[in-house]
Amino acid sequence: MFKDGLLADEVIFVTGGGSGLGKSMSLRFAELGARLVICGRREGILESAAQEIEEATGSEVLALPCDVRDLGQVEAVVQAGIDRFGHISGLVNNAAGNFLAQTETLSSNAFRTVVDIVLTGSFHATLACGRHMIEKGRGTVLSITTTYAWTGSAFVVPSACAKAGVLAMTRSLAVEWARYGIRLNAIAPGPFPTEGAFSRLMPPGIEEAAIRKIPLRRFGEHQELANLATYLMSPQSAYVNGEVVTIDGGEWLNGGEFNHFTSLPDEQIDGMFEQLRAATRKPSK
Ligand code: HXC
Ligand code: NAP
Repeated sequence: MFKDGLLADEVIFVTGGGSGLGKSMSLRFAELGARLVICGRREGILESAAQEIEEATGSEVLALPCDVRDLGQVEAVVQAGIDRFGHISGLVNNAAGNFLAQTETLSSNAFRTVVDIVLTGSFHATLACGRHMIEKGRGTVLSITTTYAWTGSAFVVPSACAKAGVLAMTRSLAVEWARYGIRLNAIAPGPFPTEGAFSRLMPPGIEEAAIRKIPLRRFGEHQELANLATYLMSPQSAYVNGEVVTIDGGEWLNGGEFNHFTSLPDEQIDGMFEQLRAATRKPSK
């Protein structure tokens, strides 16, 4: 799908790059020649991801533990990346925290924890990289949000508030920082199987119902999201700025009033519609 070496001039910082979708995007970027900085809180996970990516692609990966809630830690990782590779040209705000809970049971700290990781953490990484990108006169920032950033969703209120904030930051800075040669975009995925997300958000026995909500009747594949992220991080998308691209098999649109009929057998749909049509047919003169 992409030319070899497409990202050879890029140094990309992926927060939460040691697991799940962050790791899959990192691997894809490295296959296409990017050098990487990845961070997360668990050092062992990060180091094994870095080793795996380096062995598979030959690209260099700098893996450093860091909590994105702490601006000082994020700045130290960005500086280490610049010291190692000379510059950082791309940032993927991917690190996130989330869980299912009835909102009335949440503590203030529970709400704050998710908002701090997702929104404040994305702001910290964007700020630290952005200051450097402004000096260099170029940069690309991609934030991984989700479709309930604009629809909202029951049982994930802290995450929905935080992802909506990340989208607002993306659109705001797409205008403010365009004059420095910096583009900001977002991807809004539907469900993609990862240990981190599914262990927290997919209660046992719910998977089939979750798939039925998706018009394409399957979850996303990591490579599909990694390729979209590659396009948005590459110079090929130079005129795309302030955009959010949904990749969810049509899931969020399926909330429409009558869309649930699609899960019924065809004959039943035909029968129902014919019955209504007959009952409302104009009387013949
Ligand atoms: C209610 C909870 C809770 C839960 C934690 N808390 N889990 N409250 N239900 N399931 C509360 C705690 O009681 C505490 O409040 C506060 O939150 C902080 O909890 P800690 O465990 O101390 O926080 P921490 O160790 O920092 O861990 C953060 C975390 C954890 C978010 C809670 O799950 C985590 O590290 N997640 C990272 C990975 C992740 O979540 N990946 C999934 C992303 S998927 P009190 O008041 O007791 O102190 C995703 C997909 C979206 O975002 C879209 C899907 C389609
Ligand atoms: P994941 O594997 O749990 O990814 C989250 C990553 O963030 C982990 O590597 C985690 O590493 C890191 N992280 C969490 N808190 C951090 C902190 N305070 N500081 C630094 N790093 C931190 O889950 P995923 O499914 O791949 O999620 C990746 C992104 O996709 C997230 O933004 C998520 O909201 C989004 N998304 C996922 C789905 C899906 O279905 N999978 C759908 C829509 C959106 P540590 O725990 O080691 O810190």
